[in-house]
Amino acid sequence: MGMNRGKVGLAIIGVGHWGKNYLRNFNALSKCEILWACDLDESNLEYVRENYPQVQVTRNFLEVLQDKRVRACVVATQASQHARLAKLCLQMKKDVLVEKPMALNAADCSSLIEQAEEEKAILMVGHTFLFNDAVHLMKRLIEQGEIGELYYIKAVRSHLGLIREDVNSAWDLATHDLSIFSFMLRCSPTQVMAAGSSFLKQGREDVTFITLRYGKVLASIHVSWADTNKQRTVEVVGSKGRILFDDLNALEPIRIFQRGIGIDQDVSNFGEFKYLLRDGDIVSPNIKMTEPLKNQCNHFLDCVIQRKQPLTDGEFGADIVSTLCQVDESLIAGRC
Ligand SMILES: NC(=O)c1ccc[n+]([C@@H]2O[C@H](COP(=O)([O-])OP(=O)(O)OC[C@H]3O[C@@H](n4cnc5c(N)ncnc54)[C@H](O)[C@@H]3O)[C@@H](O)[C@H]2O)c1
Repeated sequence: MGMNRGKVGLAIIGVGHWGKNYLRNFNALSKCEILWACDLDESNLEYVRENYPQVQVTRNFLEVLQDKRVRACVVATQASQHARLAKLCLQMKKDVLVEKPMALNAADCSSLIEQAEEEKAILMVGHTFLFNDAVHLMKRLIEQGEIGELYYIKAVRSHLGLIREDVNSAWDLATHDLSIFSFMLRCSPTQVMAAGSSFLKQGREDVTFITLRYGKVLASIHVSWADTNKQRTVEVVGSKGRILFDDLNALEPIRIFQRGIGIDQDVSNFGEFKYLLRDGDIVSPNIKMTEPLKNQCNHFLDCVIQRKQPLTDGEFGADIVSTLCQVDESLIAGRC
């Protein structure tokens, strides 16, 4: 099977729910050619054969690694498999895009970072929200002082399911919000507290409440697999207003609620002035949303071709894992 010169030869490891989105996006990019799709589940391989007949399929991951035409691998398996598979790819000098969370502990993160350095390979983590136009706009608005001094950030990510077998709801869902917070605030949390419960299944928290501090800025994340009300919001509150990012609102993903402050003279109270807080104008900026995963795939290929450091590099991924480990410690300490 030949390969067009100059194109990045790609392999996608894990073509389940999310891996199929990688197939679709990379397939549409002319900078690469998907050579392999690898999965343990025969029905996923059948899907590839039907929809991408030019892509070779295998259940054997090692077959992919031995193919010299494969320059880069995308690891989109379950979280518990990320570190092991990504490490093997790096050892074979392949560039790697590994899904979030990058690994399940700090030691595995360090080992991946070291391996990538040793092989001079690119290591990128799939923190998709850093390739989301709305998140970039929200960051710009904060930095331009649009809502004044930052008070707090609040994120909610709830839905019925999809329950993961290998990680709890924080590792699966709060990962996104932690990545958004770190990116927007340009720092990691200085304090992490969490409480959670397993209502649906014993063992792993399917509902988690996390409270954090980023220096002076307070933050909270609520994630749930047990809520019929699907929500995907990040709200940033400051002294001059608030920004609401609603990922389910395709028309107006970002709205800015400006705060109006009026002064009311209260005659009954010896002419003392009272500040009245009220909502001011609501602005919904017109943003051209592009598919975040497509931007992420493009960025990965650019990094592979130009040998540049990804926005969501190993260090960024490791930092999120470190916070998730602190979340777990707090969850375990509070288990009853
Ligand atoms: N960035 C995002 O927005 C986003 C969204 C959804 C999922 N994800 C991440 O993507 C990953 C996959 O999620 P999913 O929903 O597709 O899960 P999934 O269970 O549907 O798919 C995982 C696939 O990996 C395969 N697999 C496991 N071990 C393998 C191995 N050794 N070799 C080859 N294939 C193997 C499984 O057979 C399965 O088909 C998760 O880590 C998840 O956190 C990220």
